Amino acid sequence: TDLDTFIARLPKAELHLHIEGSLEPELMFELARRNQVEIPYASVEEVRAAYAFTRLQDFLDIYYAGANVLRTRRDFHDMAMAYFDRAARDGVVHAELMFDPQTHTDRGIPFAEVIEGLLSAMEEARTKHGMTSCLILSFLRHLSEEAAFETLAAAEPWLDRIAAVGLDSSEVGHPPIKFAQVFAAAREKGLKLTAHAGEEGPPEYVYQALDLIDVDRIDHGNRALEDPVLTRRLADSGMTLTVCPLSNLKLCVIDDIVQHPIDAMLKAGLKATLNSDDPAYFGGYIADNYRAVAEARGLGREDLVTLARNSFTGSFLPEEDIARHL
Ligand code: HPA
Ligand code: ZN
Repeated sequence: TDLDTFIARLPKAELHLHIEGSLEPELMFELARRNQVEIPYASVEEVRAAYAFTRLQDFLDIYYAGANVLRTRRDFHDMAMAYFDRAARDGVVHAELMFDPQTHTDRGIPFAEVIEGLLSAMEEARTKHGMTSCLILSFLRHLSEEAAFETLAAAEPWLDRIAAVGLDSSEVGHPPIKFAQVFAAAREKGLKLTAHAGEEGPPEYVYQALDLIDVDRIDHGNRALEDPVLTRRLADSGMTLTVCPLSNLKLCVIDDIVQHPIDAMLKAGLKATLNSDDPAYFGGYIADNYRAVAEARGLGREDLVTLARNSFTGSFLPEEDIARHL
């Protein structure tokens, strides 16, 4: 079989996906019309042309603006369903969706509208595609820890439907230590913990995620490679890294896809996985990410199988479900 077919047929889990980052310009226009919301673009082409970033913050400004068209639970349902339909075609059999409640509650959208829309789409994905999924409630790190506590409190009625908490948004200047208490509280409630670290932030932020938060996963983690001691520690502890190659390219974490360190990560014994991060903004879904690094770094099919296996062993699925996928 050719590479595209091999990748599409390889059962995989997606572990690093911001559901708001799956909002395609076409759906953004449809929701703007449906909700009578003004958007500062004349056409889908104009929106796509605006997706030229030099760093994380350029992207985040546009991503939060795009989320403004999301108003009702039906909007969240439709956005998630579009993602599930697309991911199913890429061979995703399990998806762990990050969502940013504060992006919506700060605009007056009730937490219930956001999560109920996502949950109904997750249910539909299960019946329509046989795809399992779970939710990762992500705190916006440019906001205060107090605001994160308020978000955790708002989630209380749905805690049995939330697998984990995460930490995203502007990394530099907002180290994991800022959220140590709220992560401890989430752990007390039985949630798993993950945090973006080492995307733009230094290795020190990865150390903080490990030592001060005791995360179950690291999202990105690229800059850990600058520190051999840290790299060894991550490898020896079997810590899963949710790596996002096309995101790294679009946000200029790397200058060219041929520089992507995925093969160095595997060679160092790191439990890396491949993910799309914000596929509507970064030019590709998960299979595009597999293909991009396979071609750019000459990964063999055994490497792709390893990466897909890592996506199940690093997932937040119960042990017996993980075993079923291996
Ligand atoms: N990095 C940090 N925060 C984010 C991202 C990302 O890639 N996507 C959505 N929020
Ligand atoms: Zn991310």
